[in-house]
Amino acid sequence: MHTEQLMRAVRVHQYGGPEQLKLERIERPEPREGEVLLRVHAAGVNPLDWKIRQGLMKEYMPRTLPYIPGIEVSGVVEAVGPGVPSDLLGQAVFGGAEKGTYAEYITVSAAALARKPQKVSFAEAATIKGGAMVAWRALFEHGQLAAGQRILIQGAAGGVGLLAVQLAKWKGAQVIATTSAANLDFVRSLGADQVVDYTTTPIAQAVKDVDIVLDAVGGETLLSSLDALRAGGTLISLAGPPPLEKAAERRVRAMFSRGESATPLAVLLETLTRLVDEGKLKVVVGKTFALDDVQQAHVLCQNGHGRGRIVLLVAE
Ligand SMILES: NC(=O)c1ccc[n+]([C@@H]2O[C@H](COP(=O)([O-])OP(=O)(O)OC[C@H]3O[C@@H](n4cnc5c(N)ncnc54)[C@H](OP(=O)(O)O)[C@@H]3O)[C@@H](O)[C@H]2O)c1
Repeated sequence: MHTEQLMRAVRVHQYGGPEQLKLERIERPEPREGEVLLRVHAAGVNPLDWKIRQGLMKEYMPRTLPYIPGIEVSGVVEAVGPGVPSDLLGQAVFGGAEKGTYAEYITVSAAALARKPQKVSFAEAATIKGGAMVAWRALFEHGQLAAGQRILIQGAAGGVGLLAVQLAKWKGAQVIATTSAANLDFVRSLGADQVVDYTTTPIAQAVKDVDIVLDAVGGETLLSSLDALRAGGTLISLAGPPPLEKAAERRVRAMFSRGESATPLAVLLETLTRLVDEGKLKVVVGKTFALDDVQQAHVLCQNGHGRGRIVLLVAE
């Protein structure tokens, strides 16, 4: 093995706490048919990453150990595999990657990437796949959100919520959003019509008869989401399966929004690129960390509070 073919990558050898994130030198991968070799600039740190690391997602998102964590990325195409047009070489791109993103180089299907919006940094672009795409699928595919509807977004300051607020406003919905005191002004600045401080105000007191709730929090908050809906309304849960029996008792539709979108990935990513470049969608990075500090990044992410997406800066 030549040293110039080695790269730094974070790997997990067994499920467990943040201490299981090991920064190692491993061999650089080679792109296969349909894949590109991406020089990673930034990797988003999504709550799903620590849930997978902890072994909580084995049923939905199994991993073969050791694995490289991370599901969202931005970078520059360094090489192309068989069947991939060579004009992709040198392009700045963003998207998702099933085989992990916390590494200096990754191989990823060319179809899972799109042109990076020109107006954002690599760090910002790395947050789009795990935020905007998830919000889009939940709002427009599962929720069928239409102009004029009233929607409650729980967890509005987070990596998904902040994009859900903006996309719902873009669609012409009336948006009510929950966050803690520290993020009230931030969520207002995203365009929310009403912002509720969940630390001081029970949701059932402040919000009634909405058409849709997008819940990015889970637990007790998910139960409170049921109280805010009108009969016949829709509860879309992102953090886990919703309480189906309780939902049926209240005559509301409830679903767990996950998996890939029905819209072809390339089309969806291109749409998001356009919205970002047109200034209609603002992406927000919370804290940034170097690859060496990945354990601290996961500790912060696991805490479940804050504003915007945590990002690992790999080559910026
Ligand atoms: N189903 C899927 O495909 C999918 C994809 C991506 C993410 N997810 C899940 O979606 C959830 C949210 O992800 P994310 O990336 O947005 O997380 P995140 O960036 O860590 O944000 C979490 C946000 O939740 C807020 N929050 C915490 N407790 C709250 C409460 N009781 N009421 C209202 N807001 C509260 C926090 O704001 P404060 O600081 O103001 O408390 C924080 O801004 C996670 O559980 C994640 O695993 C699911």
